[in-house]
Amino acid sequence: MRIGILTGGGDCPGLNAVIRAVVLAGAVNHGDEAVGFLDGWRGVVEGKTVPLDPDRCRDILPLGGTILGTSRTNPFKTDEGPGQVLSTLADVGIDALIVIGGEDTLGVANRLGDLGVHAVGVPKTIDNDLSATEVTFGFDTAVQVATEALDRLRTTAESHHRVIVCEVMGRHAGWIATHAGLAGGAAEILVPEVPFDLGEVCERLRARHQGGRFSSILVVSEGAVPAEGPDAEAARWATSTDAVDQFGHARLGGIGTWVAEEIEKRTGYESRVTILGHIQRGGTPTAFDRVLATRFGVAAVAAVHEGAFGTMVALQAGRIVRVPLAEAVGESKTVDLDLYRGVGDVFRG
Ligand code: F6P
Repeated sequence: MRIGILTGGGDCPGLNAVIRAVVLAGAVNHGDEAVGFLDGWRGVVEGKTVPLDPDRCRDILPLGGTILGTSRTNPFKTDEGPGQVLSTLADVGIDALIVIGGEDTLGVANRLGDLGVHAVGVPKTIDNDLSATEVTFGFDTAVQVATEALDRLRTTAESHHRVIVCEVMGRHAGWIATHAGLAGGAAEILVPEVPFDLGEVCERLRARHQGGRFSSILVVSEGAVPAEGPDAEAARWATSTDAVDQFGHARLGGIGTWVAEEIEKRTGYESRVTILGHIQRGGTPTAFDRVLATRFGVAAVAAVHEGAFGTMVALQAGRIVRVPLAEAVGESKTVDLDLYRGVGDVFRG
């Protein structure tokens, strides 16, 4: 078989591990030939390919990013896009396409299935917000990076008796904030799922600091927002941007700065902000992410050979399963509030 591979959306650690697994499993188990499409769906629309074989994949297992490049191109953004995809796949002689992406990239694969494209999805995103899989690769690495950052921020916060706000990624879901915040012993974790009351946050900080603690670490998801009211309005102004990608997502960032400035104004505690940004997405994947990515890649090749098109491989109860793509991209997985409130409330404070 001739199998096409693409990586779309934001990159994440472990993408190269999937590519390697697909190429090796295909070649060794089935004698498949692999073709890489460059820069996500853009490469399929524009017919930009690169040959992939086991030799090319020799050293890429620990490598961050994606050797294929990525983009947030949406072929359905133009009238001719879907037709261009179909003609490229026919020209290159692709029998099946393995699409590695988050809900946007996989959503395109799902729609193309209706046009006869044979696609199998592999879930990726550091945000961990795909509901059909317990976890996506890249998430563990992002949490590890954020936790290490929090450990470092803590020592300087303690030395200077400061409040330090650390803004992490997480557009609609606060998984990175919750896990890193718990692992790093944050005083407060602010997530998109639970609009926050900054007055109450300041109250709790005052209580902590009067109790003899002279520093606090707060973790804030980039998508966290104050509860409706004047603070919500002020934060919207402070963080607003006109930039949107081809899937209509706004570029987020800046809520951490607003929170740190407001805390300093309202409490008098000297405050600083660190925005981790793309540091969470770059670099080598953890062992957990390498293993998960490899399992997904091998399972995707098996799905192709069993004709399970229109599905996505997923992790459920520790096992790799297949779920319909339509279901996989239907609903975001938001933070488990039992974890956020239950465990968090016991250990924070
Ligand atoms: O891939 C998901 C994500 O990392 C989000 O957490 C973040 O909002 C977004 O990508 C950033 O995208 P970009 O790299 O295009 O700025």
